[in-house]
Amino acid sequence: EKIYVGVDVGGTTVKLGICNAEGELLQTYEGPTEVNKGPDTILHNIATYVRQIVEESPYSWEQLAGVGIGIAGFLDIPNGFMKHSPNLYLNNVDIKGFLEKELNILVKVNNDANVAALGEAWAGAGRGIQNCVMYTLGTGVGGGIIIDGKIVEGFQSVAGELGHMAIVPDLEAIQCGCGKMGCLETVSSATGIIRMAEEAVARGDRTSLVNVEKIMAKDVLDAAKAGDEVATRIVSRAAYYLGRSMAMMAVILNPECFIVGGGVAKAGDFLFDQIREVFEKYTQDASKENVKIVPAVLGNNAGVVGAAGLILRG
Ligand code: BGC
Ligand code: NA
Ligand code: ZN
Repeated sequence: EKIYVGVDVGGTTVKLGICNAEGELLQTYEGPTEVNKGPDTILHNIATYVRQIVEESPYSWEQLAGVGIGIAGFLDIPNGFMKHSPNLYLNNVDIKGFLEKELNILVKVNNDANVAALGEAWAGAGRGIQNCVMYTLGTGVGGGIIIDGKIVEGFQSVAGELGHMAIVPDLEAIQCGCGKMGCLETVSSATGIIRMAEEAVARGDRTSLVNVEKIMAKDVLDAAKAGDEVATRIVSRAAYYLGRSMAMMAVILNPECFIVGGGVAKAGDFLFDQIREVFEKYTQDASKENVKIVPAVLGNNAGVVGAAGLILRG
C-alpha cells in the first residue's frame, strides 16, 4: 500500500499527516515552525518532521509516494518556489528544490488555502463536488478554487488569492499586509476582527470587550452572540464583505458550494446566517440557485489531507 505525506506549514506549527489513497488520515505529527529563525530552519524542520512521522508510523519509507506541502503565500507552484509570503517572512525560497534534495523523494508545493480546498473537495464538505470555492479565515483570508475537481492556479500560479480582493470602499479602507488598500483580509480575517475590536476599545466605545485583556477573534464573536453592539457591528462587517465577495465569485464561477474554514468559521450559524443573507441579497437568481455556503468539515486537518492529495490528485 502506498502512503502520502501531507504537510501544512502554519505560522506557529507545522502539521503533518500520513494519508492513504482514499484521503484517510492514518497518522499525525506536529512540531514548531520557528518562523523567527528564518527560512533555513523552517525547511530543516519540515524535513526532520517528515522523517519523524514516517519513522514513528507502521509504514516504511519505501511505501511513501511523495510529500505534499501547503504553505501561505504567493508561490511559483510548478517549481515549488516561494516568491513572497508576508505572514511567514519568506521571500524567494526554493522549497521544492531543498526538500527533494534533502529527502530524496517527490515533493509538491501549493498554497495553504488551495490545499485546504483540495482536502475538503476530496474528503470533506465538498466530497464528490467538482466545483467549489473555499475561504479560510485565520491570520489572513485564504482562498482556494476547485473547478472540475482541480485547483485553479492561474497564469503565474497565484490564482485564488481571495483575501486580497480589494472590496472595501476607499473611504473605509485600510492597508493590507500585501501593501494594497481595502483587501477582504483586512476585515474578515481573525486579525482584522481583532484590529477592529482594539480600535473600538481605544476609541472608548461602550463594549464588554474593554474587560478582555488580550482580545481574540473568538472573544469578539462571543460578545456579538451575547448581544454586544460594538462586537455585533464588527462581526456583521466581516460577514458582509465575505458575502459580497461570494456574490462576485458566484457570478464568475457558478460553484456548487462555498466552504468556509479557519478559526473564525467556528462561530457557526451565527456567522454563516449573516454571510448567507448578504449573499442572497446581492447574487442574482441563476447564479445562486442551489448554491450552498457550508462550514469546512475537516477542520484543522483539511490542509494536511489536501497536501497529501497533491501527490495523488495532481
Ligand atoms: C496569503 C495567502 C494565504 C492566506 C491564508 C494570505 O495573506 O496571501 O497566500 O493563503 O493568507 O494563510
Ligand atoms: Na489560494
Ligand atoms: Zn491584501
